[in-house]
Amino acid sequence: MSFEGRVALVTGGSRGIGRAIALKLAEAGANVLVNFYVNREAAEKTAAEIEAKGVRSHLLQADLRDPQQIKQMFEEVQRIFGGLDILINNAASGVFRPAQEITAKHWDWMMNINARAFLLAAQEAAGLMRGRGGGKIVSISSIGSSRVFPFYAGLGASKAALEALTRYLAVELAPFGIAVNAVSGGLVETETWSHFPERDAILAAVRERTPAGRILKPEEIAHVVLFLCSPQADMIRGQVIVVDGGLSLLV
Ligand SMILES: NC(=O)c1ccc[n+]([C@@H]2O[C@H](COP(=O)([O-])OP(=O)(O)OC[C@H]3O[C@@H](n4cnc5c(N)ncnc54)[C@H](OP(=O)(O)O)[C@@H]3O)[C@@H](O)[C@H]2O)c1
Repeated sequence: MSFEGRVALVTGGSRGIGRAIALKLAEAGANVLVNFYVNREAAEKTAAEIEAKGVRSHLLQADLRDPQQIKQMFEEVQRIFGGLDILINNAASGVFRPAQEITAKHWDWMMNINARAFLLAAQEAAGLMRGRGGGKIVSISSIGSSRVFPFYAGLGASKAALEALTRYLAVELAPFGIAVNAVSGGLVETETWSHFPERDAILAAVRERTPAGRILKPEEIAHVVLFLCSPQADMIRGQVIVVDGGLSLLV
């Protein structure tokens, strides 16, 4: 799979799953822009790893909860790279609490970064992709959008919104040659989990229950994302591809 000469933007591309996707895209020849929010050190390290693969990288610091900062981020993409071929909507943030304890502030926080930012970024990306005859948009969702996990109510609801939007955008943007899909992960061990109550017990329980017998690696999400960005996946539209080692098959 070659993405030579393509321009890709990965939101939250500095760490975890986003970083794995950014590095795989760079290995396949794409120039990769990395968005991050507060952790500049991690972002700089990832950008250096991307450039070491012989392609261009550029850091975009933006809080994706802010519509103005999203707009400015895409203006910078256009100014520096002259267009965009691939958007990976990966950045997310969660407040891990039972539904009964989620406040209006928590709800807005999660919806704004996990769902609204996708809508606004896709609108901006589509404008840049139309100038190049098309493109690919892939979001990262989670099986908590349709299954119930402890403390995951707010994140799960925001991922359900993201998945619904994936289907609407896939239909609306198809006439412009833009394919929109999502990859839904089971539990992937990243820094996110260090903030989770009962982390170790949850990791052990998921490992035990997963038919494939282990926890996912970020690269295993990245491989499927790259396939969805390839011409071989051109006729896949508005789908949510589950990568969870079989966990969500069980009742
Ligand atoms: N880990 C899992 O088990 C799992 C499972 C299924 C799906 N997912 C999904 O996969 C994606 C990546 O998860 P992850 O575990 O790799 O996350 P992570 O390690 O916590 O990294 C989150 C990334 O998002 C960025 N970010 C956070 N808030 C932001 C904001 N307001 N504006 C811009 N960027 C922001 C962070 O940048 P800074 O570091 O600069 O703040 C960081 O680059 C998410 O969509 C998540 O829901 C994760």
